[in-house]
Amino acid sequence: MSTSAGGAETLFSAFTIRGLTIPNRIVMSPMCMYTSGGDGRPTDWHVVHLGSRAAGGTGLVFTEATAVSADGRITPGDLGIWSDEHVDGHRRLTAAVAAHGAVPGIQIAHAGRKGGRTRPWEGNRPLPREAWGQVLAPSAEPFKPDWHLPTAMTTSDIEGIVSDFSVAARRAHEAGYRVLEGHFAHGYLMHQFLSPLANRRTDRYGGSLENRARLPLAVARAMRQAWPDDLPLFIRLSMIDWLPGGISLDETVQVASWMRDEGVDLIDGTSSGILPGEAIPEEPLYHLGMAGEVRRRARIATSAVGRVRTTSEACEALRSGNADLVFIGRAILQDAYWARRAERELGAENLVGVPVQYRRATQHLL
Ligand SMILES: Cc1cc2nc3c(=O)[nH]c(=O)nc-3n(C[C@H](O)[C@H](O)[C@H](O)COP(=O)(O)O)c2cc1C
Repeated sequence: MSTSAGGAETLFSAFTIRGLTIPNRIVMSPMCMYTSGGDGRPTDWHVVHLGSRAAGGTGLVFTEATAVSADGRITPGDLGIWSDEHVDGHRRLTAAVAAHGAVPGIQIAHAGRKGGRTRPWEGNRPLPREAWGQVLAPSAEPFKPDWHLPTAMTTSDIEGIVSDFSVAARRAHEAGYRVLEGHFAHGYLMHQFLSPLANRRTDRYGGSLENRARLPLAVARAMRQAWPDDLPLFIRLSMIDWLPGGISLDETVQVASWMRDEGVDLIDGTSSGILPGEAIPEEPLYHLGMAGEVRRRARIATSAVGRVRTTSEACEALRSGNADLVFIGRAILQDAYWARRAERELGAENLVGVPVQYRRATQHLL
């Protein structure tokens, strides 16, 4: 771990991890926009959506879950990076973010058994199988009875997934991303392998924690090998499933230690998504204590994510010593200038400066 999180850390202090300095601790959490236009390519929407958060002072701006293969998408609208033809479109996104001094990050993902659905505003319904292609999972069990019945993956499917994540990592670097995150949470393919509630395999990829973690670790290793040594690799994990028989925090600490040994730099600790019916708490910072356990016991940097809305909640997350970066989701969708407001509230200097075009506003208004 290349940093220490203690009382001295503040929201607008820079964070150096490997050879990268992130100008402040505010991160736009990955959030699906389902707006690729159907072929995985970035659109003007993504340029404006991500660019405006960078103009808004955010230190690290993540794309949504970006599919490593066409049938690894949740919906036909998902962003993709499964083809070399996607790279130029992603260059527009990284340029739009970097233009403001923010760091562009990409989350890469495979939806597994949660793939092949219509967009949320189209009803989140299963698409006809013939229109979609294969739906893969560790075991032939659906997420819900009326969701796709997935095909249990063969060894060759498993090898193909490792390669898909690896090639996606290489393309992400070519496109100009500076942080790479693997989406191993929220009930998508890697989480399906990790959780006993979705992985019923009896081969070397199922059963013990070591076996359930075998594919996620192989994917993390392949991502690390394809990604430059001087740039950081994050992994998003669902730290617990909130259901009996689900993944436990002790197991997550062990997985995080293995990940650290593979060269992963930060665990982005969230929870849930493996099956319906979880009882998820409503309070702010509800993952923070668990993130702290991971941070101390696995000796790896962590994020605070989940119901962070106010400046004081974000500061509290850092002051607690449980997290190094604060990921903000819904609050930053509501307000692209969330970081600028925090900057004013704290009287802080933000290294992600106000765009020159907007400077007159700071001279005359405040
Ligand atoms: C519209 C929307 C889309 C999301 N898409 C993703 C995603 O692509 N990848 C991911 O890891 N989490 C995704 N999430 C979860 C967020 O990244 C974040 O973890 C969650 O919203 C909790 O943070 P918040 O309370 O600040 O919103 C999404 C959340 C929202 C609201």
